[in-house]
Amino acid sequence: MTVKIRQIGPCFAGEVEGVDMSRPLTAEEVAAIHAGMDRYAVLVFHDQHITDEQHLAFTVSLGDLEHAIGTSLRRPDEYRLPTTFADVSNLDKHNQVYARDDRRRLFAIGNRLWHSDSSFKPTPAKYSLLRAVSIPSKGGNTEFADMRAAYDALDAETKATVEGLVCEHSQIFSRQQLGFFDLTDEERERFRPVRQVMVRTHPVTGRKSLYLASHAGAIVGWPVPEARAFLRDLIEHATQREFVHVHKWRVGDLVMWDNRQVMHRARPFPADEPRDMRRTTLMGDGPTVAQVETAEVAVAVAS
Ligand SMILES: [Fe+2]
Repeated sequence: MTVKIRQIGPCFAGEVEGVDMSRPLTAEEVAAIHAGMDRYAVLVFHDQHITDEQHLAFTVSLGDLEHAIGTSLRRPDEYRLPTTFADVSNLDKHNQVYARDDRRRLFAIGNRLWHSDSSFKPTPAKYSLLRAVSIPSKGGNTEFADMRAAYDALDAETKATVEGLVCEHSQIFSRQQLGFFDLTDEERERFRPVRQVMVRTHPVTGRKSLYLASHAGAIVGWPVPEARAFLRDLIEHATQREFVHVHKWRVGDLVMWDNRQVMHRARPFPADEPRDMRRTTLMGDGPTVAQVETAEVAVAVAS
């Protein structure tokens, strides 16, 4: 079958027909999907009633897999899925819904803030591929914001300001915004900030995009309150409704997005209902900027 993509978003997002993820992709299909991602940044595939193995096979036919190790508060013996998947569900390893006050659930509520997947890793994510296995009776949409359009809409002065800026990203910063401080010393060490550029240039199209996330809690060389106020203004600008596409899930949907070009967030849903979402992730090409020891670590070494 021929891959067909129809635009569904306000200025981005495409709906794909002609891809069956239960079968290996042809070279032409791989090329068409990458071209679609370059153009739309979000692709929606419906009715993919596939196994985890088929989801994984589809993913690795498009690039190098990023493993989900140590990025949540699940201990290794609490994983429900292999580390080839990020478990975006609200379920424990026995498929039971987390209690409302479970710290693993509260940490995962950070996904309701605008973010780009794995921006807290030195090499951040390229594509994320999220599949709906079961969905709640209401809510739980995923929203996407086009960071290319957001960049284009900045005034010249702000474009000059953001050029060359470097941010520090950590899951500690995003959780602090929700009043979640309940982390162990081991978790704080594991979630140590990394550096990312604030403006990215797409390697194929050459388009610039704002690279933001709620994980960004500092700008190198800026006072922290000023940096956080500026980051908040930029995220507010970038997530105006004209730049946002809302995906309402159906079981069997697989949505793939380019974390270099869009931010996303999950929306709330009833706390006592299962929402089983499984994500594979493709690695980016490398760090966006050289990493240095963060101040927190430097202080620890000096003392
Ligand atoms: Fe995410």
